[in-house]
Amino acid sequence: MSPFPAPRTPVLPATWISPTHRKTFEEAGTTAHRLASGAGGWAERLGDDAMISHKNEQALRELIAGLEAWSAESGWTPNRIFTRFLPLKNDERISPVLHSGDATLPLTTVVTENGVRYGLDFAAGYSHGLFLDQRMNRARVRALKPKRVLNTFAYTCSFSVAAALAGAETVSVDLSRKSLDRGKENFALNDIADKGHRFIADDTLELLPKFDSKGKRFDLIILDPPTFSRGNNGRRWQVEQHFEDLLCAALEVAMPKCAILLSTNCTKLNPVALEHMARLCVKGKRRTADYPRSLPPVDFPAGHGSSTLWVMVR
Ligand SMILES: C[S@@+](CC[C@H](N)C(=O)[O-])C[C@H]1O[C@@H](n2cnc3c(N)ncnc32)[C@H](O)[C@@H]1O
Repeated sequence: MSPFPAPRTPVLPATWISPTHRKTFEEAGTTAHRLASGAGGWAERLGDDAMISHKNEQALRELIAGLEAWSAESGWTPNRIFTRFLPLKNDERISPVLHSGDATLPLTTVVTENGVRYGLDFAAGYSHGLFLDQRMNRARVRALKPKRVLNTFAYTCSFSVAAALAGAETVSVDLSRKSLDRGKENFALNDIADKGHRFIADDTLELLPKFDSKGKRFDLIILDPPTFSRGNNGRRWQVEQHFEDLLCAALEVAMPKCAILLSTNCTKLNPVALEHMARLCVKGKRRTADYPRSLPPVDFPAGHGSSTLWVMVR
């Protein structure tokens, strides 16, 4: 019997990117991107490998068959295929499993995004290490050429790497020391020297007021928190309830001119809701800002990927 739930309603087939898009990514130095997105799951190219994330057995079967057909059409075939079940509850999350390919190969790999190198680890847990839907936001970080960047909820520090490559000093904050160590490895993979870069294992919510009282200021701040978490001393974080407080605290450490990225996977907080919340905070702190809208990445159809908003404080 299948360990995965049966779909309750018929699942629409996933939409696959065109083989031309794959070539365009490759020419731009990007080997990590979505291949397909659908209601039952999605497929990603991750360097020489592919990963299928699925909600049920039928979606898994369809995505495997879709990948075979897409490989034949595009001429790109993954060395290995990993699969990952997408449970409804966070505490049921497990690491990806190898579906096909050489089981003796290491479970780590290196992918590139616009020429930047990032390490992935298929055995590190539910997430391999790089959120592909943030590609355009990482590109924006580089284009803005910030000087002092605060990357909160930094995970494997991909935003910090992008900022450092643009010449910024960075501070990466995450509760998980292990994730920050992977962040340091990402810095090393891109030959970025340690000087000017700090990695702090702490609770963002507790650190922001401390930074404020020490007079620390930043011209680019990343706020990409999880939907739920437990911070220091078991403090409960729930993004819908607490994002506004987080942004208000971040505004206290924002330089007079500062770019702030808001991002969330919580479906209730769409970009319109994020902008409404941001306008309230910015006004409350007697600041003004622009809210430029970004084009969605070509490999993420509407409704897929996180909701994001840039708050350009001026
Ligand atoms: C959604 S991931 C962030 C993804 C990251 N921005 C990226 O693009 O790679 C959430 C991260 O927040 C961290 N985290 C959760 N609660 C935290 C807290 N209160 N303070 C600092 N980090 C926290 C988790 O350890 C996890 O690495």
